[in-house]
Amino acid sequence: MTVGAPGLARLSHATRLLHWAVALGVVGMLGYGFWLQTLPGGAGKTGSVQLHKSFGMLVFATALARLLWRLREGFPPAGGHRPFERAAARALHVFLIAATLAMPLTGIGRSLAYARPVSMFGWPVIPKLFAEKQETLYAVCAGIHDWLALALAAAIGLHAAAALKHHLVDRDDTLRRMLPSGGGR
Ligand code: HEM
Ligand code: HEM
Repeated sequence: MTVGAPGLARLSHATRLLHWAVALGVVGMLGYGFWLQTLPGGAGKTGSVQLHKSFGMLVFATALARLLWRLREGFPPAGGHRPFERAAARALHVFLIAATLAMPLTGIGRSLAYARPVSMFGWPVIPKLFAEKQETLYAVCAGIHDWLALALAAAIGLHAAAALKHHLVDRDDTLRRMLPSGGGR
């Protein structure tokens, strides 16, 4: 089944719904996380970090559902692109999926290493594992969480620019098939 340009397969409703749910969640989390870094330490910041952790766990659950769906359905076949473009797009998509999972995982790691439990909107999800701060584990998880955030933001910029290029320059259906009205099962 194609939409518009030959070779562009329709995207399922689940693919589109999960794509925009994760996209909204990840972009929001990046913005909120970078803003968190501008706050001075103290009781006010603790509440904001807690909110970041709660929404982060929600994004994690959505990203996991998306991964399971991708494994079940496989990647939608790209059509109408040159082979190197297809390979670059696939590599970028794999990175985006891996990074959206690595961000919450390293967030959980840095919280546990800081001798804190993880809860979601007040509900305990992962109990406190350590009696005191684990310096090495904290440095590794916090380092990855901070640097991957920058790499992920850059990758999302590239990804969105590529989608716009397809829409405005190539004038194909790459962006349209990801929109709510883009057909599908
Ligand atoms: C998609 C999910 C997530 C994204 C995109 C994200 C993004 C970010 C960003 C951009 C920062 C600021 C980094 C910097 O520039 O230094 C940050 C900090 C942080 N994140 Fe996340 N995060 C996510 C999920 C989580 C989760 C699930 C947790 C814990 C359960 C978590 C815990 C933290 C903590 C503790 C900080 C440091 C806050 C501070 O003390 O300043 N994050 N995150
Ligand atoms: C910010 C605006 C965004 C736009 C305009 C956009 C647009 C698109 C489009 C048009 C496709 C289909 C590509 C094709 O048919 O080959 C796509 C696929 C994809 N996008 Fe985005 N995207 C955005 C944000 C994001 C974000 C934030 C993420 C994850 C962090 C993401 C991850 C993916 C992945 C993994 C795919 C592959 C298909 C799938 O697994 O659902 N996108 N995107």
